[in-house]
Amino acid sequence: MKKKILIVDDEVLIREFIVNFFQSISAYSKCLLETAANGDEAIAKIKQKKYDLIFTDLKMPGKSGLDVIKFVSENSPTTDTVLITAYGAGDSAAKAMAYGAYEYITKPVLIDDLELIVKHIFERQDLILENERIKKNIISEKSFPKIIGKSKPITDVMDLVKMVAPTNTTILITGESGTGKELVAEAIHTLSKRKNEKYIKINCAALPEHLIESELFGFEKGAFTGAIKRTIGKFELSNKGSILLDEISEMNLDLQAKLLRVIQEKEFSRIGGEMPIKVDTRIIATSNRDLTEEISKGTFREDLFFRLSIVPIRIPPLRERKEDIPLLINSFIKKLCFEMGIPKKSISAEAIDFLMDYRWPGNIRELQNAIERALITTRKDVLDINSFNFIGGKTKNYPVNLSNEIVKTNENIDDKYLVNIKDRTLAEIEKEIIYKLLEETNNNKTEAAKKLGVTARTLRNKLKIYEEE
Ligand SMILES: Nc1ncnc2c1ncn2[C@@H]1O[C@H](COP(=O)(O)OP(=O)(O)OP(=O)(O)O)[C@@H](O)[C@H]1O
Ligand SMILES: [Mg+2]
Repeated sequence: MKKKILIVDDEVLIREFIVNFFQSISAYSKCLLETAANGDEAIAKIKQKKYDLIFTDLKMPGKSGLDVIKFVSENSPTTDTVLITAYGAGDSAAKAMAYGAYEYITKPVLIDDLELIVKHIFERQDLILENERIKKNIISEKSFPKIIGKSKPITDVMDLVKMVAPTNTTILITGESGTGKELVAEAIHTLSKRKNEKYIKINCAALPEHLIESELFGFEKGAFTGAIKRTIGKFELSNKGSILLDEISEMNLDLQAKLLRVIQEKEFSRIGGEMPIKVDTRIIATSNRDLTEEISKGTFREDLFFRLSIVPIRIPPLRERKEDIPLLINSFIKKLCFEMGIPKKSISAEAIDFLMDYRWPGNIRELQNAIERALITTRKDVLDINSFNFIGGKTKNYPVNLSNEIVKTNENIDDKYLVNIKDRTLAEIEKEIIYKLLEETNNNKTEAAKKLGVTARTLRNKLKIYEEE
């Protein structure tokens, strides 16, 4: 989050206090912090640069905080301002709000107040940006914004998306990590009648349990310690639009029950509030876990599952749509070269073959990362097989769960090879399997390659790498 923040106060201690606050929170470590000791200095700075957030004291020599707020709302309407006032300065606070301040805080400034206000302001700004980005997408690319692929499995998914998008049905998108669940969710929103309304995401895996609830439903002032003012949750914010509940399996059972109520009754209550609030939000959920398994373990409600999965969309792993790999590679090369500001590179046929043979346990995200890494580390204009030697063969530090995945999903590999997988790298396991299969096939490379599910060329390349080691 690279936000530009200006802190205006004639008291150096207050300036330092707020600067320290931002520096002490890792999420804000990239923020650009500037200070000004009075209103005139602040206005001069605002003329030079667009800030995202400005804190300003009220009484200062020369121009006052109110002058700063007025100047900002007239000249930089997307900048949010927060007035810092002495206790009891209710009048000026009201005036500041009328001039367009986002909020005011009273001295002594408390860390908790700062934390809450800054979080809300940044969230709101990001939401506005995200919605602008999505709207632009709708205008420039009518149908599927960024979903690349011509294979049957992915075109089937797109057909299903086109069919369900215009309805109001709740949708459950499943698929392994990195298969494009979020991308498909966004496509559903942009192809729906709600496309000009808000699209709000909440990642249940990234938030602690107790926060998911307040994020979703909001809370009334005083509902719990720290609830200093009424706060609107994401369900309310996304009214008329869509909400993406990402990684829904991470919700606890209690919250699942509340979610079921939103789906069935189309209403909920803020935490600490008694009044039910009506919402018309389209729910899209994703999960990379098998929810039926979670149901049998007792960690996911069956009734919620049925409600969510009226139309389930399963995104196939990349290894089930290998023919999309060349398309994806070319598109990623084009996009990434452009982003890196380098001339567009190409890729050898041999390297494409090699990438098509790999099983991609991290799916499209992993492919995109691999291309990025190859582009960074290859000096030549053409990516060749050596540009990808960190995949499989020479990579020493792949996490073991990837190797598990690879071996587990390849039915041709017998269990007898799966000894002592723990604590070994993918490269080591792969090498051992290759040599064992060669032994078994009396060094018949074509047959061994077939058993491994790769081309003979890939096998030969691997062996070449082992010889060079
Ligand atoms: N068909 C596709 N065409 C182009 N890019 C894609 C495609 N599918 C996925 N991507 C890209 O791959 C990356 C991962 O996609 P996304 O975040 O949607 O996956 P996910 O299934 O939500 O993964 P996770 O379970 O890890 O959250 C993104 O950068 C996305 O843009
Ligand atoms: Mg995701």
